[in-house]
Amino acid sequence: MHALVVYESMYGNTQEIAEAIGQGLAGTARVDVVEVGSAPATIADDIDLLVVGGPTHAFSMSRATTRRDARSEQATVSSGDGIREWLRSLGPVAVAAATFDTKMHKPRLPGSAARGAARHLKHAGCRLVTRPETFYVADKNGPLVDGEIQRAAAWGNRLASLVGGRTSSR
Ligand SMILES: Cc1cc2nc3c(=O)[nH]c(=O)nc-3n(C[C@H](O)[C@H](O)[C@H](O)COP(=O)(O)O)c2cc1C
Repeated sequence: MHALVVYESMYGNTQEIAEAIGQGLAGTARVDVVEVGSAPATIADDIDLLVVGGPTHAFSMSRATTRRDARSEQATVSSGDGIREWLRSLGPVAVAAATFDTKMHKPRLPGSAARGAARHLKHAGCRLVTRPETFYVADKNGPLVDGEIQRAAAWGNRLASLVGGRTSSR
């Protein structure tokens, strides 16, 4: 199995989660974990599982305006477009997929980048292998809440067992 994990991250927390998911998958799969700015323009035929994640900004995936806000507060990881723009640029893609996000533990606000990304991938033709998953940060710029790295690794491990190969929801 070959898995591709694409993440966006402003302050590094989603990056840490993406890397832990990649470690969880690595027991079963060959894994590439890539920042969205380096993500491929198309999904190669040998990818069996696509995992996409980003920070929740203003109740959903980030936009240019929210990323500008984050960068004005010392965010340093993703410097270009986010997963919203990358997903839009992908076009139809029939592959097993899963999505995740990070958001604040408190206050617990509605909305989720992972849910937005999942909707997009489903419409693009992906089969979602599990519900969108959220991992929590203690404050706007982190750190991750205790135990979230381990939970992400376990989630990655479970994803591998949920994938039955390249398939379409249509
Ligand atoms: C502009 C902006 C908007 C945000 N909006 C939300 C939100 O609606 N809900 C939430 O729980 N967290 C929100 N957050 C907190 C982010 O989810 C948090 O910064 C992110 O999970 C950290 O991940 P990162 O280090 O990978 O960027 C927001 C943060 C920023 C910078």
